[in-house]
Amino acid sequence: MNPVVLESSLPGILVRRGKVRDVYDLGDRLLLVSTDRISAFDWVLPTGIPDKGRVLNQIAAFWFDLLGEPNHLLTTDVNAMDLPAEADRHLLAGRSSLVRKTRVVPIECVVRGYLAGSGWKEYQKSGTVCGVKLRPGLVEGAALDEPIFTPATKAETGHDENISFERMADLVGRELAEELRRRSIAVFEKGASYAKARGILIADTKFEWGLVDDRLILIDEVLTPDSSRFWPADRYQPGRGQPSFDKQFVRDWLEATSWDKNSPPPPLPDDVVLNTRRRYLEAFERLTGKRFETQTGV
Ligand SMILES: Nc1ncnc2c1ncn2[C@@H]1O[C@H](COP(=O)(O)OP(=O)(O)OP(=O)(O)O)[C@@H](O)[C@H]1O
Ligand SMILES: [Mg+2]
Repeated sequence: MNPVVLESSLPGILVRRGKVRDVYDLGDRLLLVSTDRISAFDWVLPTGIPDKGRVLNQIAAFWFDLLGEPNHLLTTDVNAMDLPAEADRHLLAGRSSLVRKTRVVPIECVVRGYLAGSGWKEYQKSGTVCGVKLRPGLVEGAALDEPIFTPATKAETGHDENISFERMADLVGRELAEELRRRSIAVFEKGASYAKARGILIADTKFEWGLVDDRLILIDEVLTPDSSRFWPADRYQPGRGQPSFDKQFVRDWLEATSWDKNSPPPPLPDDVVLNTRRRYLEAFERLTGKRFETQTGV
């Protein structure tokens, strides 16, 4: 097991630290570094999950390769990245993606195959999810007849705001909005059916797209447990909340403490860390059919 990496550092070129990833500017390219940070209930926890960043980075790379959709990934090989001399290649290896910098379309392209989270809450009130009318009688966690596209705007702080398709068309233009919807649903269907055959239900996910010379390419992370809801298929039972494939141990443990979710969360105990780490590795191994190599060979 590798030591946990909570932060990477490349002096002078850091663009942003997200909840999980550190983003560096290399001119016409970006370096996306997935750390071992983990978030729950909208908080980044003080404890990391060893190898989580590597698993996430390698799951995204696996999908980019499999999906056959034009995308931003140039390489995950740190030796081929032409990094600044002072870069810590051992720390970055396996957890880094060099990508083409694009003009980001400022829409979170959410696709849902199941009724969960904010979608389930809205459906109970109004029979819709982000304005999309669904048939009556669906229970929590129900599989939708077909995946639906429920865009959101990217918020700098706080929560993304769900918007209607019409609002999205106003923001980015109808033609682009329709292409984003069509391609997002197609990528989701391909990925979700592949994952389902390997015992993982992808309940919903968020894609981001960027423009290069007016061509749309898939960017950011794709179909990872951080950008999606992964459910274990063998525990799926509509009519209740589903366990999370990756974060269930963390959530259960936090719920059992006295933490109020409004103040910095407590550190995780070792057994929760180890069980959670095992789940991430399992997600990788189920999806890719490969063993997760903890040694990166750099
Ligand atoms: N090819 C690309 N071109 C330009 N920007 C990109 C590209 N790929 C990803 N990005 C941007 O990089 C940023 C990734 O950082 P982000 O803050 O999402 O990290 P994160 O760890 O996922 O955090 P959070 O949980 O807060 O989303 C996003 O703003 C995303 O739009
Ligand atoms: Mg993000």
